[in-house]
Amino acid sequence: MLPFPDTTKSKQLYARAGELIPGRTQLISRRADQFANGVSPVYASRAKGAHFVDADENAFIDWVNAVGAVILGHADDVVDGAVIEQIRRGSIYTLNSPLEIELAELLCEVIPSAERARYTKGGGEACAVAARIARGATGRDLILICGYHGWADWYQAVNFGADPESGEWPFAGIEPIGVPAALAPTIRPFAYGDLDGLRALLEQHAGQVAAVMMEPCRSELPPPGFLEGVQALTREHGAVLIFDEVSCGWRQAIGGMQAVTGVTPDLTVLAKAMSNGYPMGAVVGRAAIMEPAARMFISSSYWSDNLGLIASLTTIRELRRRGSEQRLKETGEALKRALTDAIHAAGLVGACKGVWSNPYLALSLPTGVDPRKANTLFIQEMARRGVHTSTSFKATLAHGPEDIARTAAAAREALGVVREAIERDAFDRLLVVDLKKEPFRRTVR
Ligand SMILES: Cc1ncc(COP(=O)(O)O)c(C=O)c1O
Repeated sequence: MLPFPDTTKSKQLYARAGELIPGRTQLISRRADQFANGVSPVYASRAKGAHFVDADENAFIDWVNAVGAVILGHADDVVDGAVIEQIRRGSIYTLNSPLEIELAELLCEVIPSAERARYTKGGGEACAVAARIARGATGRDLILICGYHGWADWYQAVNFGADPESGEWPFAGIEPIGVPAALAPTIRPFAYGDLDGLRALLEQHAGQVAAVMMEPCRSELPPPGFLEGVQALTREHGAVLIFDEVSCGWRQAIGGMQAVTGVTPDLTVLAKAMSNGYPMGAVVGRAAIMEPAARMFISSSYWSDNLGLIASLTTIRELRRRGSEQRLKETGEALKRALTDAIHAAGLVGACKGVWSNPYLALSLPTGVDPRKANTLFIQEMARRGVHTSTSFKATLAHGPEDIARTAAAAREALGVVREAIERDAFDRLLVVDLKKEPFRRTVR
């Protein structure tokens, strides 16, 4: 019988983290319970290209890629080379760095709606800056949101809009513990695709809405006319339209989903893949909305560090030089085809669906089968075969045909185990781990 990977060291480290680090990890998506807890690796020792080696020296193909922060591949030689060279000249200066201006010029060239830029070190931080700018520019407080926008108070206050009876939070899994309840009236969620709902909120709060912040898409392209409708409604009500492209940016097109859909927001939030794994985030947008930021208190020491700046400049240039859009498309489409074939070869019904930049496994399970069990068993069996993944996949430029072939072969077998579990009602016997937890329920799929 195929052995499970020995993850003793990962387990020991995770237990020690439990004694020292509240919550054990800094990112919910890195918790052990987000994968097959006990079989999936939890700690890595090194990563290169499309692969990593865990703390126990097991090698894996990586389809998570630092939750999308890596796009060229782990430890990319060109980006790392530029960063190392910069470290020798100084990772941060007392004075400002000319790289700030160079990156602003590049962002204004590649992001359709960008005329001005500000920087941060991550996505949630950049979302908070965008919210501050929109509120400051309009003199209004209320923000309507659709999607995940990070950890900060301005956003997490949305979960006060919960129904305590059903326990249904807008983002199930995140309770607004520690967030001032006074912020509750400053934010409201709206449902993706629901223009009437958005219109009703804008009318109900006429003259009060500073911004509509949303993820333009995640795994599926927006329904026809939806983003255009959001833009028209937002303009009509004098609110700022903010696209959060932290997860969907850079992959489908270097200019982001706004380049794909042709709908340009007033502000855009960027992070993750823009710097191939080095901390960086940005808010870019129209000059008229961004200029008032000069008078707002938006200031932090490490936002001007040189490493994020040089990593971003190099990553964006490399995406262009390597023809990333075409290559990521080919890889994503090939992976979708290979996984759909694997589903059918395993005798299951379904397909690998979604945009090629973020495809996901969509199994049609017989009634009565708990999808959480099927998903956890899939992740467990993939880990057993040296593939680290959830049920959605993010390719990098480092993933090649060999990685796809090995992933598809593993998926055929893993899905075969899922099929056996379905046919013999054997999930509880075949699952050697607890069910994977959802990090939080996302409102944009
Ligand atoms: C759309 C979106 N916005 C914001 C964030 C938060 O970014 P970070 O984790 O860098 O703070 C994420 C992270 O997953 C995201 O997907």
